[in-house]
Amino acid sequence: MKIDVHTKEKEYSVILERGVLAKASQWIRFSGQIFIVSDDGVPAKWVHQLQEQFPQAETYIFPNGEGSKNFATLQEILKAMQKAHLSRQDTLIAIGGGVVGDMAGFASAIYMRGIRYINIPTTSLSQIDSSIGGKTAIDFNGIKNSVGAFWQPDLVLADPDVLATLPARQLHNGLAEAVKEGMIRDPELFAIFEKEDAEDHLEEIIARCLKIKKDIVEKDEKENGERKLLNFGHTFGHAYEAYFGMDGYLHGECVGLGMLTVLNDPMLKERLRKVLQGLQLPTECQCDPKKIYQLMLLDKKADHDHISMVQVDTIGQGYLIDWSLAQVKERLGI
Ligand SMILES: NC(=O)c1ccc[n+]([C@@H]2O[C@H](COP(=O)([O-])OP(=O)(O)OC[C@H]3O[C@@H](n4cnc5c(N)ncnc54)[C@H](O)[C@@H]3O)[C@@H](O)[C@H]2O)c1
Ligand SMILES: [Zn+2]
Repeated sequence: MKIDVHTKEKEYSVILERGVLAKASQWIRFSGQIFIVSDDGVPAKWVHQLQEQFPQAETYIFPNGEGSKNFATLQEILKAMQKAHLSRQDTLIAIGGGVVGDMAGFASAIYMRGIRYINIPTTSLSQIDSSIGGKTAIDFNGIKNSVGAFWQPDLVLADPDVLATLPARQLHNGLAEAVKEGMIRDPELFAIFEKEDAEDHLEEIIARCLKIKKDIVEKDEKENGERKLLNFGHTFGHAYEAYFGMDGYLHGECVGLGMLTVLNDPMLKERLRKVLQGLQLPTECQCDPKKIYQLMLLDKKADHDHISMVQVDTIGQGYLIDWSLAQVKERLGI
């Protein structure tokens, strides 16, 4: 399947196809040098499949994990690009999860004021969510994704076959974002999670999410309006993520908890809880609500007396709403 994304700066294609990694060179037909960036958690066989097709390409591999999303790693990537004499006519290919995409995407946004960037997402989260939309960032001064740039890729190659090596926890973590997209935009997508075994429908789930994200990003590239809907579950979710730290819950797991916290309708909450349980995602956690509240005040979406939230009362119909700080406290039971 080919999805064309039209943004103000660029038009690019997303190819979703089993086995597309082994055929990447058929799609990557840009002239100039290729520079590959990955992390050491991506199974070597996937990176080799790409390298074999571009024998002249240099590769830079950094240590996997959120802990690498910092200035030090960014500098090392930029140094390696400089050492390889990469010019503005050359191309950087990211092959990995959201961390690789965010790091390599940011490096390509700022190296020589921007070079061509191709993303080959290898986790469910990156195929479903982070590989399109053009957000790139590093974590800075303890705040996630606080330094970055909007930099759209020139091509995205999503190969569902590479998910075969992904640990179950990581697979389910990414699927939490798909559950979110179903809740805000696509009742049929949500129904897959309610009625079927999601793992039998991975390709369809990814395709539906890519289409939703394309649609939203084309209308609101810089998140001034509709794109904010994608933050459903994220306002509480980011606070849970910060509270439990890097070794606690994964991003999608916290988004699941965040969706459960924000929902008003008890029936809907129950339906969501069942879906999350079916994906072995957490549905409750032990935390200090006062600390969660403090962390929420640091959120980009918090103003002095209210926080911008996404709410869902009917599956498929997410909407934006401001909550007073008193409402947030009440929801947290403080
Ligand atoms: N830019 C955006 O729009 C956006 C959106 C959502 C999330 N993000 C960012 O994405 C990051 C999370 O991404 P993620 O969930 O992909 O995590 P990740 O990139 O850390 O990948 C998870 C782990 O899986 C390994 N891995 C990757 N592919 C694999 C494969 N095919 N088989 C086995 N292991 C594999 C990685 O090395 C890593 O250890 C966060 O930093 C988050 O902020 C960005
Ligand atoms: Zn998210």
